[in-house]
Amino acid sequence: MFTQNLLDAARSHSDWIIDIRRQLHRHPELMYEEVRTSQLVCDTLTELGISFERGIAETGVVATLGTGVSPCVALRADMDALPIQEQTDVPFRSEVDGRMHACGHDCHTAMLLGAAKLLSERQSESRGTVKLLFQPAEEGGAGGKRMREAGVLDAPRVERIFGLHVWPQLPTGTIGSRPGTFLAAAGEIDIAIRGKGGHAAMPHLCIDPVVTSAKVITELQSIISRELDPLDSGVISITTIHGGEAYNVIPPEVKMRGTIRALTMDRFRWLQERAKAVITHIAAANNCEADVSFPGNDYPPTVNDASVWDSVQNFAAEMLGREAIQEIPAVMGGEDFAFYTEEVPGCFVALGIRNEDLGCTFGVHHPCFKADEAALPIGVALHTAFALQSLGQ
Ligand code: NI
Repeated sequence: MFTQNLLDAARSHSDWIIDIRRQLHRHPELMYEEVRTSQLVCDTLTELGISFERGIAETGVVATLGTGVSPCVALRADMDALPIQEQTDVPFRSEVDGRMHACGHDCHTAMLLGAAKLLSERQSESRGTVKLLFQPAEEGGAGGKRMREAGVLDAPRVERIFGLHVWPQLPTGTIGSRPGTFLAAAGEIDIAIRGKGGHAAMPHLCIDPVVTSAKVITELQSIISRELDPLDSGVISITTIHGGEAYNVIPPEVKMRGTIRALTMDRFRWLQERAKAVITHIAAANNCEADVSFPGNDYPPTVNDASVWDSVQNFAAEMLGREAIQEIPAVMGGEDFAFYTEEVPGCFVALGIRNEDLGCTFGVHHPCFKADEAALPIGVALHTAFALQSLGQ
């Protein structure tokens, strides 16, 4: 009953939530450049009379509701967009060339502001503190890590944390997640293979980094198929390869990039080690030299606390019906919500936004990605229910 009321309340604010989402969608900003987004968040919080701190991890904002002391729970949304040219037909499509909210972080931010509105309307009943974390740079910039380092989980100490991600594989009105590891550990790899360039007609006078690179790419896959336990999961994908300019010149160097993923940090580190060894030795066997580095931020796996997921299922079943909740398999995508769940028990939940009639069927990071906005009030109600229920209300 209590959760049904929250859903009704969220739905009564649908237009307000959708309007915020569309403003964000029109003006997508990349990691650590979420200036306008952050301003909109601050303006909305001010309008709602909620106190906040801004400029955390560059553009992050932390709002605080309630008593200001323990118990304390946190709700999190990410704010950054992607370097993608939008190709949808929505009337509020991106107005910034080559930038798009193709991962639905506009929805996440709007839903957390919706939760702020619902929670502020219920503040007089509050028995603890709710922190709303609007974080920058989920897409590779480890904004979550920097927010954590800035102390957003402290003073008062956050005891439980909740996050949502729009999920085009699940129909609107449903949610999914799982106990334990839900998303993978993920990191980047840079590879340079150096040989000796020269005339392509005289390969014996050169050391060919192109052929060596081809061997490296295929051999890396043997780590997954021959060394990793078939019942375990790992991914090595080489995603870019650059070398040479001409038909008849062997280049001196080939550069490659890619991603490595696993379901545990141990397995992830092992894949990095094995990749480095295989690349270095194949290069040596072909008279080349190899540089291997792991730039950027390694994301840990996102691990859900089983009891937190249990309690989410309970209030979500009351709100949406038991059949609307699915335990879904882990996926090899990475997510920097992991930096919070490394320290605090929490749960990351997939929010269904699939709607065939509206063409909301494309995956995230696709230029045609669209979200069914009917899911937004559901997300708002879930956020709010999590906070209130965790604080025993
Ligand atoms: Ni995302």
